[in-house]
Amino acid sequence: MSLISLNRHEGVMIISLNRSEKKNAINSAMYEAMTDAIEEAVSDSLVRALMIKAEGNDFCAGNDIMDFAQGVASGQITKAPMEEVPVFRFLKAICMLDKPLVAAVRGQAVGIGTTLLFHCDGVFLGQSAKLSLPFLKLGLVPEAASSVILVQRLGYVRAFSLLTTKPHLSSDEACQLGLANEVCADGDVETKALDYALALSLLPPMALSQTKILMRDPDALWEIMVREGMLFRERLQSDEARNAFMAFMSR
Ligand code: COA
Repeated sequence: MSLISLNRHEGVMIISLNRSEKKNAINSAMYEAMTDAIEEAVSDSLVRALMIKAEGNDFCAGNDIMDFAQGVASGQITKAPMEEVPVFRFLKAICMLDKPLVAAVRGQAVGIGTTLLFHCDGVFLGQSAKLSLPFLKLGLVPEAASSVILVQRLGYVRAFSLLTTKPHLSSDEACQLGLANEVCADGDVETKALDYALALSLLPPMALSQTKILMRDPDALWEIMVREGMLFRERLQSDEARNAFMAFMSR
C-alpha cells in the first residue's frame, strides 16, 4: 500500500499518512508524495480545501530518523540546493499553500508532526494527541518557522520553554494555548476536521485565499524557514545530532 493516500470528498482533498507501523514517520518519498499532492490541489479548481490525517493511533513520529541519517551521509539533505530537498520542498508547499488546510490528530505528533500543524488553518485534536518538539534533545534547531511562529502565538518565554526544557504538550494544553480549535474524542476527530474543511470549501475561494495570505504572510514565513534550514542542515552534521540519531537507531 502507498505510504501516502489521496481521497476526495466533495471539494476537499484528503491526504492520509499510511505508515502506522512506523508511527507515520515521514521519509523522503512521503515528503515528495505530499508535495505533489499539494501542487495538484493548488492547480485543481475543484479542490477548495485540504485535510491531513493519519492511519493508526499516532499522527506522525516526525522525520524518519534512518532516512535522515542516510540523507546526511550521502549529502542529499545537507548539500543539495534547499528547494530540491524533499523535506524543504514540502515545507515550502505548506507555507505557500493558498487553500485552507485542516488537520486531524490523534496520538503522537513529534517534530514536523507538530510543526506542520502551525501551517494548518484548522487543527482538531483527539484526546490522546501529544505534541512534541524534541529538536534540542536531538541536537537540532527548530524548523518550519516554528522558532518565530511559537513566539508570536505564545510569547517568548513560553515558546522558549516549549522548544527547550518542556517539549511536550497534551491535547488540552495545546488547545488552551491556542494551537488547536478543539479537543474531542479520538473517534470523532476526523469527522470534526472534515466538517470544518467542508465548511471552508464552500466559501468564496478567491476571498478566502487572499484572507489566508493576509493573515499568514507566507513570503516572510518562507524566509524564516530558509534561515532555520541553513542552521538545521549544519546541525544535522554535528556530533550532537549524530549521537542522538545513533542512540535512537541502536535502542
Ligand atoms: N523514524 C524512524 N522510525 C521511527 C520513528 C522515526 N522518527 N519513530 C518511530 N519509528 C519506528 C520505530 O523504530 C519502531 O520501528 P520497529 O518496530 O521496526 O522497531 C516503530 O516506529 C514503533 O516505534 P516505537 O518507538 O516502538 O513506538 P513507541 O510507542 O514506543 O514510541 C515515539 C513512539 C514516537 C515516542 C518514539 O518512536 C520516538 O521517540 N520516535 C522518534 C521521534 C523523533 O525523535 N522524531 C524526529 C523528530 S526530528
